Amino acid sequence: MKTQVAIIGGGPAGLLLSQLLDLQGIESVVLERHSREHVLARIRAGVLEWGSVEVLRNAGVGERMDTEGLLHDGSVIVWSAKHRFLIDTRRYAGRPMMAYGQTNITEDLYAARDAAGGTIIDEANDVTPHDLTGNPYVTYEKDGEQHRLDCNYVAGCDGFHGVSRASIPESILQTYEKDYPFGWLGILSRTPPLPELTYANHERGFALASMRNPMLSRYYVQCPLDDDVDEWPDERFWQELKSRFPEEIAAQIVTGPSIEKSIAPLRSFVAEPMRYGNLFLAGDAAHIVPPTGAKGLNLAISDVFYLSRALTQFYDNGSTDYLDRYSDMALRRVWGAARFSWWLTMLLHRFPDQGAFDHRAQEVELDYIASSEPAARSIAEQYAGLPFEE
Ligand code: APR
Ligand code: PHB
Repeated sequence: MKTQVAIIGGGPAGLLLSQLLDLQGIESVVLERHSREHVLARIRAGVLEWGSVEVLRNAGVGERMDTEGLLHDGSVIVWSAKHRFLIDTRRYAGRPMMAYGQTNITEDLYAARDAAGGTIIDEANDVTPHDLTGNPYVTYEKDGEQHRLDCNYVAGCDGFHGVSRASIPESILQTYEKDYPFGWLGILSRTPPLPELTYANHERGFALASMRNPMLSRYYVQCPLDDDVDEWPDERFWQELKSRFPEEIAAQIVTGPSIEKSIAPLRSFVAEPMRYGNLFLAGDAAHIVPPTGAKGLNLAISDVFYLSRALTQFYDNGSTDYLDRYSDMALRRVWGAARFSWWLTMLLHRFPDQGAFDHRAQEVELDYIASSEPAARSIAEQYAGLPFEE
């Protein structure tokens, strides 16, 4: 088989890339290791920057997002049991945020690819890219048979544990990594969410109240990394969650049975460069951010926007200008978001080795942000997402 762009990984990055390329008349094949059911069962991020909303609309997958997504002016931070600060993206960055789940985005992308007759090969095993600095091709096994896919370019959209980044020689790849000494225990429940997405810095640990739709809420509490979900029956979760919010907010939280519950570690990771020969990395394959800034999905979307534009330029007029600049351009945005996510994580969580001094320093920093317009503007600008480069 032959195609123009072989896309490894059928998560949001890979599916969106194939959709954007198709709209420009560029052929691609998506090779996904798991079944579609498995991909669609993953509960992940849920907050979109306005730039991401526009990319999804331009990709022709904005219809359901525009009816079901929840627009908000920004997100709230609460601390010291009484203080409240709005990260006012509409006021300071001129853009609202949109709550719309990654699971829905993935469903919308699958539907669009199916409607356009796109090729997505699921349950593809042993996907392996070859000859990345020459004439690239990808081999894989499906239903016990070996296959070969020849292509001009390979897009590595296969997430953190994928094969793409691992195909770049160690001598070329530089990685930067930071692990955090706690996890997030998250639940989904069919209950009405709080009116605002609210982050809490509390002496018992971080908590977050988020949303998917008017009858679907997503909540998180910071927990020890070695905790097991079995140690967290619903009752304990709700009690702990409420204890971390100021009383009047806790009183508004509507509890109910959880329909999903999982613990995720927090990690920062950046791999450079995001290109090796004819292989281009996008999304979690190249970088991971802790979820505190809600940047993971947005970075995957901005990488794919840059990469689809670069491939479009190449197939339009043979110019490799954008392809040659892809890694540097994408990494500028990635590092901006990686730094912001790290900073917000440090500001809002309780670390095991922190003392009273560190706690006061966090509170004083939050007080400062709430009282300084330049500080409030700076946070809002970063939370809203930096603009894409021309
Ligand atoms: N071969 C084929 N497919 C693979 C392989 C492989 N060797 N390894 C991984 N995959 C698939 C995974 O099964 C997954 O469906 O690649 C896909 C990668 O999808 P994601 O992990 O969702 O990554 P990405 O598309 O970059 O989206 C980033 O996901 O983790 C969140 O916060 C992150 O929201 C962000 C988004
Ligand atoms: C979510 O809704 O899952 C969510 C929201 C905001 C974050 C992280 C996750 O910062």
